[in-house]
Amino acid sequence: MERQGMEGEQGMGNEGQAEEGGFALPGAPYEGAALRALTLGDMAELAFVLAAEGVANAASPLRKPAFATVSATGAPALRTVFLRDLDRASRALFAFTDARSIKVAELARDPRASLLLYEPRCDVQVRLSGRARIRTEDDGAEAAWQGAPLSSRRAYLVTAAPGTASAMPVSGLPADVEGVIPSAERLDQGRRNFALLEFTFDDADVVVLSRTGHRRARIRWQADAARMEWLIP
Ligand SMILES: Cc1cc2nc3c(=O)[nH]c(=O)nc-3n(C[C@H](O)[C@H](O)[C@H](O)COP(=O)(O)O)c2cc1C
Repeated sequence: MERQGMEGEQGMGNEGQAEEGGFALPGAPYEGAALRALTLGDMAELAFVLAAEGVANAASPLRKPAFATVSATGAPALRTVFLRDLDRASRALFAFTDARSIKVAELARDPRASLLLYEPRCDVQVRLSGRARIRTEDDGAEAAWQGAPLSSRRAYLVTAAPGTASAMPVSGLPADVEGVIPSAERLDQGRRNFALLEFTFDDADVVVLSRTGHRRARIRWQADAARMEWLIP
């Protein structure tokens, strides 16, 4: 899995936090000439830039998007996840999760999923749609486990499946690891509960909010090309 940075084509002529050789994520909403300069290609690029920022910047709200699945009854099911990685070439985003969690069972039944990114500084929303799959073994999960901070690994020691009812407020962690980060050896006992969630998107709905006049575009990636069109916001 290749870690992606803020990459892309030229900036959009807007003030922002440019990464070296990369695409500027604006620090303020698009207005005036900057808004009118936005091309469909820029709108598609925003989808990757917001996702890459979420992976790269732990302090950004983009780090914690809402991830939606389809519940057993067919209802939408949403929850927050931490973005861990982006593979731009395959349009895949990665998160860690508990293999016993409800979302994992939901994805086994129906892999359709959606992920919502919102950047408040520039008022850009990106809704990504596609499919998710769960990796648990040497298909990337093991490397992700080895690379995960010890503090992140502790969650997988919870003794019952996430979502299990409890008669009292509890963390679900065994007493010996409550309030402490245990040794790597102790943490390894949670490895069997750890899974890597891979969400691959083939559709992006990008909304740019602006006082000048909003912009909205839909991008559908097919085998070798992206079909892009403007939409009425
Ligand atoms: C800020 C924040 C970040 C979270 N990150 C993750 C995450 O990366 N992976 C995860 O499985 N759950 C994460 N959770 C918990 C989920 O939102 C959710 O409560 C849990 O995964 C159970 O979801 P489920 O019952 O739909 O499977 C996070 C919660 C919060 C508040």
